[in-house]
Amino acid sequence: MLASVDGAIGPADQARIPVTDEGLLRGDGGFDALRLYGGRPCALAAHLERFARTCAGLRLTVDHETLKREIEAMLDAAGPVDGVLRFYATRGGRRLILIEPLPHRPAIARLATVRFAPNRVTDGLKTLSYAANMLALRLAQEQGYDDALLVTPHGRVLEGATSSFFWVREGVLRTPPLEDRIFESITRTLLIEHAGAVEEPTTLDTLQGAEEAFLASSVREVQPVAKIDDLQLAAAPGPVTLRAHAALREAIQRAL
Ligand SMILES: Cc1ncc(COP(=O)(O)O)c(C=O)c1O
Repeated sequence: MLASVDGAIGPADQARIPVTDEGLLRGDGGFDALRLYGGRPCALAAHLERFARTCAGLRLTVDHETLKREIEAMLDAAGPVDGVLRFYATRGGRRLILIEPLPHRPAIARLATVRFAPNRVTDGLKTLSYAANMLALRLAQEQGYDDALLVTPHGRVLEGATSSFFWVREGVLRTPPLEDRIFESITRTLLIEHAGAVEEPTTLDTLQGAEEAFLASSVREVQPVAKIDDLQLAAAPGPVTLRAHAALREAIQRAL
């Protein structure tokens, strides 16, 4: 695993930042993550634009041109790897870039619903304050599930802990709308554009009619879902999921 700290590239386990950095102490900072296919980043420009919006939203001054050059240098250093590229800016003024292997995930996920309320002030920003999402994931895993499905106290279905949520009823691919304060996922946008997914407010009640479901993100692409709490889905992956994944893969290939 490789790391770059303000442009100095080396092994990730030897990279250091000061302990006084409020990125560490308060989760005050921004980040973004995308997948590398044979060393080629997918939709880097879109991820850099979202990162710039995160930093502007956090009132965090970042030299984005320098960061871009440092990312290019990291990609050169890593070579033709399949993996994940993450980049961060901290309140302490550090620019961090990591290239790491793809995480291991089950091919098919079982989801436990976890009560969750987006906190408004950071809506739409990919901040370092991810403890709530990570805890949701752990709470789901504690119950023997693979991932969390975040649901508001009023029963509105939002997204996974680190992924967007899609489901199928009557053969139509559906996903909760951005107005429900879910994260503006780049994979979600690709699936709406290329797989014909429609935005639709989703509740725990309407979900009872689901035929298929999947999680989607830059890192995992599409991960079929077999079960949500006690609800067993008819097929994982089902035909709509398989078509959506194929359409996403084509869009990714075109973007590389
Ligand atoms: C909460 C949340 N939703 C959705 C996503 C998927 O976003 P993207 O498709 O841009 O990777 C992520 C990615 O980390 C996330 O953390």
